[in-house]
Amino acid sequence: MPLPALAGKMFLAELGLDGRLRPVPGVLPAVVAAEAGIDTVVVAAQNVAEAALVPGVQVLGASSLVEVIIWLRGGPPPSLPAAPEPPPGPAPALAMAKKLDLAEVLGQAEARLAAEICAAGGHNLSLLGPPGAGKTMLAERLPTILPPLDTAAAIEVTSIHSVAGHLTPGSGLMTVPPFWAPHHTASMAAIVGGGSGVIRPGAASLAHRGILFLDEAPEFHRDVLDALCQPLESGEVVIARASSRAVFPARFTLVLAANPCPCAKTAGPGTSGCSCSPAARRRYLARISGPLLDRVDVKVRLQPVSRRDMLYDRKFAESSAVVAQRVVAARERCAARLAGTPWRMNAEVPGTVLRRMFPPRPAALTSLDRAMELGQVSARGADKIVRVAWSLADLAGQGEPGADQVNLAIGLWLGVTQ
Ligand SMILES: Nc1ncnc2c1ncn2[C@@H]1O[C@H](COP(=O)(O)OP(=O)(O)OP(=O)(O)O)[C@@H](O)[C@H]1O
Ligand SMILES: [Mg+2]
Repeated sequence: MPLPALAGKMFLAELGLDGRLRPVPGVLPAVVAAEAGIDTVVVAAQNVAEAALVPGVQVLGASSLVEVIIWLRGGPPPSLPAAPEPPPGPAPALAMAKKLDLAEVLGQAEARLAAEICAAGGHNLSLLGPPGAGKTMLAERLPTILPPLDTAAAIEVTSIHSVAGHLTPGSGLMTVPPFWAPHHTASMAAIVGGGSGVIRPGAASLAHRGILFLDEAPEFHRDVLDALCQPLESGEVVIARASSRAVFPARFTLVLAANPCPCAKTAGPGTSGCSCSPAARRRYLARISGPLLDRVDVKVRLQPVSRRDMLYDRKFAESSAVVAQRVVAARERCAARLAGTPWRMNAEVPGTVLRRMFPPRPAALTSLDRAMELGQVSARGADKIVRVAWSLADLAGQGEPGADQVNLAIGLWLGVTQ
């Protein structure tokens, strides 16, 4: 091979024993990482569209090593030039494909408001309530009120899905925030990442810059739930092996849904029909550990949908499009305030920065002071409450949170009941 012919070129494929080139996962982040000295990338035909998502790099698709060698020795280039990029398709956005809308959730005003706050500020959310109250329904509709990802975030998210081998050829950049809802039987590796052999990102990373929804949260393995505490704090997952170490981004919004008891028969008001003892109920909810709940900024207790809302309400609630507009406006206000910092959403701002740069007026904080004095709110809780209060102010178009917003944020932190 003439050495100069290799300058500025990257080759990225699996080589079969017969000389054929096969696609590999992780092409997008590899090409992003190589950008500096590399102007041409040669990949297997199936990876051409993915590599071509990176601007400013020439991509060649080859089907065999022979083609590549002929080209490097001065012959014609491999036969498959970069295919035209198909329109960006929202790959994992099942929610979008099913055309879900927030307007379909009747009643549940508090829970809808909570969803809006979480979308605006990136706050973690828990929904506790009886079967059939609309917990799953509401969570599945959260993506419909989230703004699309900007290009940098879209490349990040698509890269993770590429490494995981989830990307369908030609699906384009993922511009819709991911919504990832693993089943409660999922293993530790499936949730936080790892696995035997090649280290793969888990649901926490696949939900990066989107939503990780744990439906029936108490049914998840306890250690799996606890393992989520660390990425919730740091925004990344670190997997260390004897020989290697992998770091995956994992800045997701956590949404938990749970029934108040294991028999899930608390359908009516109160607990009629439920045969669980109070102790059994406590044990069930205690499976979501204190440290994890401490990281959930907004906790909502749903009541069963009332007959009136379900059968006779013809006003219908606001549609996703209307709510999404308020969310975008709130996010823009927040991003303007955080300009020049590495953060974009209220939920991301570290506590120390929050207290130094964005403290609410002392007059707004009297009830928080009181709640802390009573031991109802931890130090982490106090920071989370202030963050949610900022999101409420952003949604309301106010310059800073007032006492009303702090009070509402305390209620949401402690867990509102209708
Ligand atoms: N607030 C609501 N507005 C309209 N329909 C609702 C509402 N709540 C429940 N439903 C109806 O009941 C069905 C079940 O709702 P959903 O799956 O969200 O309940 P859930 O709270 O997740 O219950 P479970 O605890 O059993 O998982 C929905 O598909 C919908 O048809
Ligand atoms: Mg459900």
